[in-house]
Amino acid sequence: MESLNRQFTARAEDFDRPVLVTGAGGCIGSWALAILVRAGVPAVAFDLDASSHRPGLLMAADELARVTWVEGDIADPEAVDRAVSAHGIGAILHLAALQVPFCKADPVAGARVNVVGTAAVFEAARRHGLRRLAYASSVAAHGAPAESAYLATLYGAYKACDEAMARVYWQDWGVPSVGIRPGVVYGVGRDQGMTSKTTAAILAAAAGRAYEVPFRGLTSYLYAGEIASAFVRAVSHERDGAPAFDCNGTCASVEEALETLVRLAPGAQVRAGGDAVPFPFRDEDSLLRAHIGDYGSISVEDGTAETLDAFRILLQDGRVSADV
Ligand SMILES: NC(=O)c1ccc[n+]([C@@H]2O[C@H](COP(=O)([O-])OP(=O)(O)OC[C@H]3O[C@@H](n4cnc5c(N)ncnc54)[C@H](O)[C@@H]3O)[C@@H](O)[C@H]2O)c1
Repeated sequence: MESLNRQFTARAEDFDRPVLVTGAGGCIGSWALAILVRAGVPAVAFDLDASSHRPGLLMAADELARVTWVEGDIADPEAVDRAVSAHGIGAILHLAALQVPFCKADPVAGARVNVVGTAAVFEAARRHGLRRLAYASSVAAHGAPAESAYLATLYGAYKACDEAMARVYWQDWGVPSVGIRPGVVYGVGRDQGMTSKTTAAILAAAAGRAYEVPFRGLTSYLYAGEIASAFVRAVSHERDGAPAFDCNGTCASVEEALETLVRLAPGAQVRAGGDAVPFPFRDEDSLLRAHIGDYGSISVEDGTAETLDAFRILLQDGRVSADV
């Protein structure tokens, strides 16, 4: 997978200490690790399970070997603090979370991981005087306010709580942070969560299988490399304040993106059904870019082509399953 990720990079000289990536075994975390490792930035991966296969879909064995893994529970403040002090961490990308369906299936576990876990990360940042912290909120946070027109989910409620905590950490203790609300992420490694089905369609096309994305209409096509690059860029300098920004990549309809997919994989039997995803998808990434600087971008066509090519290779090597 050498070709993946090449246009998203970091500058080693921006980092004088290692970066801790929580949820590093997940989709965005794997891409963030790949960007950091390829730039020569020391990366410490924190996840419940260090055996996750996703980073290995993006990185060669010698690249993976450069990552220091810490197995731990993000909701355990001592484990998080220990990881920061033991590895001399200078910046944190906080991505560990349970997604929409998992929070719905187990609301207490969702609150523990998504809220207590975020508090543990902010506590570690406070204790260690870190001024480089970026955390993942979500477009789903827009469903949390009582008057919101968008779908309310427990996941969105937890993410809205995280944003509120971030503002208080800045107000009370001067802990700065950048909150990023990704829309719908697609690309290699996106294999779980309510909106992972746009990626499943690309995998199905690569495997020659028919597939129906269970939602249609406007959504966001936010390439996993692009959002990972945004997180890395967000911690490449010390920040002030605790703003949170939407990040959607390209807003497009599922139908349009599937037409692109069929152009790239003639004969692919992919379609969209169901209702639109009930979250706001707005082209407002310029606000995030104005705050953190440019972090690169990729068109839906190029991101889809890259993902399709990667899945073809991964399927051939038996490293991803064709069961979608
Ligand atoms: N993928 C998207 O479209 C999307 C959209 C909006 C927001 N986000 C947010 O971005 C972040 C990363 O998303 P992703 O797609 O990479 O998620 P993912 O589900 O692929 O990965 C999440 C990772 O967190 C880890 N994790 C779960 N519980 C943990 C715990 N108790 N302790 C330590 N690690 C734990 C999991 O093992 C997993 O590796 C999450 O916070 C997610 O809510 C993602």
